[in-house]
Amino acid sequence: MEKLVIQGGKALSGTIPISGAKNAALPLMCTCLLTSEPVTLTNLPRLADITTLSDLLNHLGVTVTIAGGRRKNLQGRSLTFDGHDIHDTVAPYDMVRKMRASILVLGALVARMGEATVSLPGGCAIGNRPIDLHLKALEAIGATIELEHGYVRASAPNGLSGGTVRFPFVSVGATENILMAAALAKGKTTIENAAREPEIADLAKCLNAMGAKISGAGSETITIEGVANLKGTSHEVMPDRIEAGSYAVAALMTGGDVFLKGARAHDMQAALDTLVEAGGIVEVEATGVRVRSSGEIHGFNIVTHPFPGFPTDMQAQFMALAAIADGASVITEAIFENRFMHVPELSRMGADIAINGASATIRGVKDLVGAEVMATDLRASMGLALAGLVASGETTINRLYHLDRGYEHLEEKLRQVGAAVERLPS
Ligand code: UD1
Repeated sequence: MEKLVIQGGKALSGTIPISGAKNAALPLMCTCLLTSEPVTLTNLPRLADITTLSDLLNHLGVTVTIAGGRRKNLQGRSLTFDGHDIHDTVAPYDMVRKMRASILVLGALVARMGEATVSLPGGCAIGNRPIDLHLKALEAIGATIELEHGYVRASAPNGLSGGTVRFPFVSVGATENILMAAALAKGKTTIENAAREPEIADLAKCLNAMGAKISGAGSETITIEGVANLKGTSHEVMPDRIEAGSYAVAALMTGGDVFLKGARAHDMQAALDTLVEAGGIVEVEATGVRVRSSGEIHGFNIVTHPFPGFPTDMQAQFMALAAIADGASVITEAIFENRFMHVPELSRMGADIAINGASATIRGVKDLVGAEVMATDLRASMGLALAGLVASGETTINRLYHLDRGYEHLEEKLRQVGAAVERLPS
């Protein structure tokens, strides 16, 4: 196991290239299950979650090949996913338990193969994350769902048929699963109260290029006219708005000036608005977003919401920012229960944080101090890394594999803008 060692106190300055989005790449990879022709994805980040899903797809019969070399300057790579010969429709526990997003194979598999069996993902560090919405949505378009021995089996031997799916609340993964399944269903499907995250629009764009007939993706009502077959395509994965937002926070916290190359401001407006409220200077340019410090950090209040609201995946990073703000901040986590695991560790670094239910009150302190810390999830780990960038002395982040799930070339990118960061064996 590896750890990240950070010497705090360096202002970050320069350009950070933003990678392809993990949360867009994962559903995009599953589109290969919908067609017998190859799907090539470019700008794929080199991340542990991508490898985990590649392995699962490979287990199902998908051939995964490298379609091109790495691009220059820490950019992503291209992989081709060929689902011509799907020979298995079971996603086993051993593979699914590593990553909850494995549930995304369910909709595509049942749509193309008439059946799919996927291990229930189980609990997870950021709360009990059920999949009931995924299952109800698939039932609404004709799948029969059975649960047995910790597995969910979806079947539709005569194919799926369109229907109306109305989600009681927004789920990104359930919207993606039903979007893929409905693309091959007979007739029209309407998804109401669909997730509006930019990753949904990216998925729909790829599916439409494959021959699907989807309209309204990115809004709360999506309409899908099912087609009999989909073809292969090549698609560039959108930039990672959470990675970009994390480095934007780093720029402000360290009193720096960073150009986030490739970042799309309209995908991260809520986070950028909060940065400005906190004292950051944000300039949107044609090829990216520049974030720099005004020399001040003010307190701010946020409540996490589905897109276009403030993303839960940025909550831990903004808590690190609040920890050194001038004044108090209140951060309310409204999407996931139990997503404050970074709080005790930030407190060990000198942060002043009080939790009351789903809200945390953070009173900014002048200085954080380096410490040995560990986090139990990806974004919480990034919150600690950000705190380490401004803390006095040395901060060691254990369990680096969490960061490797979501931040491509983390230490190279940070070093490129002047951070003192090293990856060491534990
Ligand atoms: C996706 C993102 C994750 C992000 C989250 C919310 C990926 C791979 N992951 O996760 O990084 O934090 O969106 O923006 O894209 N829920 C149910 N039943 C369900 C499904 C969800 O109750 O069947 C609940 C969840 O427990 C949670 C809320 O709905 O409280 C939102 O979850 P959801 O949008 O589904 O998150 P994911 O798709 O798992």
